Amino acid sequence: MARPIRVNGDAFVEMISERRIKAKIKSLAGQINRDYQGKIPVFIGILNGSFIFFADLIREIAVDCEVDFLKLSSYGDAKISAGNVRLLKDLNCQVEGRDIIIVEDIVDTGLSIEYMRHLIGPQNPKSLKVVTLLYKTDSVKPGTHVDYIGFRIPTDFVIGYGLDYAQRVRNLKAIYRLLPPKKGKRTPAKVQV
Ligand code: IMP
Repeated sequence: MARPIRVNGDAFVEMISERRIKAKIKSLAGQINRDYQGKIPVFIGILNGSFIFFADLIREIAVDCEVDFLKLSSYGDAKISAGNVRLLKDLNCQVEGRDIIIVEDIVDTGLSIEYMRHLIGPQNPKSLKVVTLLYKTDSVKPGTHVDYIGFRIPTDFVIGYGLDYAQRVRNLKAIYRLLPPKKGKRTPAKVQV
């Protein structure tokens, strides 16, 4: 196993490499390009976490499109969901009659997706779909529907590629998962970030 990196005293190890992320984004974009032929969808990025995924995905999109952003409250400094979602920045675009694609970095409990469906649904979009890079299979609420899923992952806390830990480490190129604390033995850290 690759040597862990340390953030705020916690150890993280690489889970998904930059190369695998790039390949997955090409495949997701390929599906979206096929499904939206002849349409002009509006991609809505959920800030802050999705900004890197959003930028990489949109550059693989071959159909004409528009973009906009929503900002929702995040975990803050914690590693688990607070269980409530707040809107920090609303949309600027017209939703009615448009093909909307919500772009999420990660679906954990699914509360954010549910919140956005309730926010955007009543504005009568022509269609409403969700794409996420990561999907935590075991923690997501039953009934949470996501149309395009990059990687299905266990309920580990993950960082990098836009995902933060207390607002830090979003700039890591790969995705790292938190290692459970080991009793007794300590693995030396490769990088301190
Ligand atoms: P949900 O509403 O519980 O599905 O959580 C979605 C949001 O929580 C994401 O957009 C992230 O901002 C944040 N989140 C969920 N899991 C993680 C994680 O493992 N690391 C960092 N942020 C996460």
